[in-house]
Amino acid sequence: MEKNLIELKNLTKTFKAYDSSFKTSKTHITATDDINLQIKKADSLGIVGESGSGKTTLANLITGILTPDSGKILYKNKELLSSGEKVFREYRKNVQMIFQDPYSSLNPKLKIYSTLKDGIKRHITKDKKEIYSRCAELMEMVGLTEKHLNRYPHQFSGGQMQRISIARALSIEPELVVADEPVSSLDVSIQAQILNLLQKLRKESGKTLLLIAHDLAIVNFLCDEILVMYKGKALEYGKTSEVIKNPIHPYTKNLLEATTKKDIKKVVTETTGLCPYANRCKFFMDICRNELYKYQATETHYALCNLYK
Ligand SMILES: Nc1ncnc2c1ncn2[C@@H]1O[C@H](COP(=O)(O)OP(=O)(O)O)[C@@H](O)[C@H]1O
Ligand SMILES: [Mg+2]
Repeated sequence: MEKNLIELKNLTKTFKAYDSSFKTSKTHITATDDINLQIKKADSLGIVGESGSGKTTLANLITGILTPDSGKILYKNKELLSSGEKVFREYRKNVQMIFQDPYSSLNPKLKIYSTLKDGIKRHITKDKKEIYSRCAELMEMVGLTEKHLNRYPHQFSGGQMQRISIARALSIEPELVVADEPVSSLDVSIQAQILNLLQKLRKESGKTLLLIAHDLAIVNFLCDEILVMYKGKALEYGKTSEVIKNPIHPYTKNLLEATTKKDIKKVVTETTGLCPYANRCKFFMDICRNELYKYQATETHYALCNLYK
């Protein structure tokens, strides 16, 4: 069996949220709730779910920006958080992120060349000529040119900036690229270009990809596997083709229906059940208040739903 590059076991992260009117009364938000997943080398996993479902928190846990309250992250089958500083440093180099807003993720005062060269110098080579030719190559790879290295972030369009973020993420040869809604800040006309670029790079480099999106169509285009999140929980997880052909959870079905619509309307409701989707579910049953059944459809495809009990 092929080795997992990354594996998450029961990963949970809770935030304290302060009530705005009573600064002292605390509530807790479980942003990621008992998440389990595996990503094999060269595979791509898409995480889909509407705003607030915990996707960014999960990405930040995987990239090491946040520490989980409980659960494990295994990197090449070794537990990451209890490994030493050296393993963690290697991990941070090997897991690179592409952010939703390319402008806020790049230093506005630095020319693109400076932004790109620092990582290369630290991790790949100290040779100045090599660093330069590598930067030039990266620009070509993402559809820009060597000339662009001398410009500042404000001189680029959103789409071009996202190309630069992709170049920066790839510049130090990571094993895993985590892209958090990489096209949602871009014009619709530009989105397809960036998605095509990601697809091309994935095919050419064989890089492992974790893609976060709120649009199922994007995950369907780029990812072998899909995890559907809602209020911190992974409601459905499986091969993208299987999940799209045979969605099990009502929320997944709802997302599929909504993919043609521009956006999924966010409905804010109180939770009345153990299942986070209880309030919006057409199939809500009393049992959903205190039980959540894990239905294993195939070896690689499950959903948390009592309909299948
Ligand atoms: N630093 C934080 N402090 C408090 N609450 C947070 C923090 N980060 C995220 N949250 C909350 O956790 C939930 C998940 O957020 P997030 O991971 O950003 O979701 P998504 O990326 O799917 O939109 C939301 O309810 C959000 O308000
Ligand atoms: Mg997010």
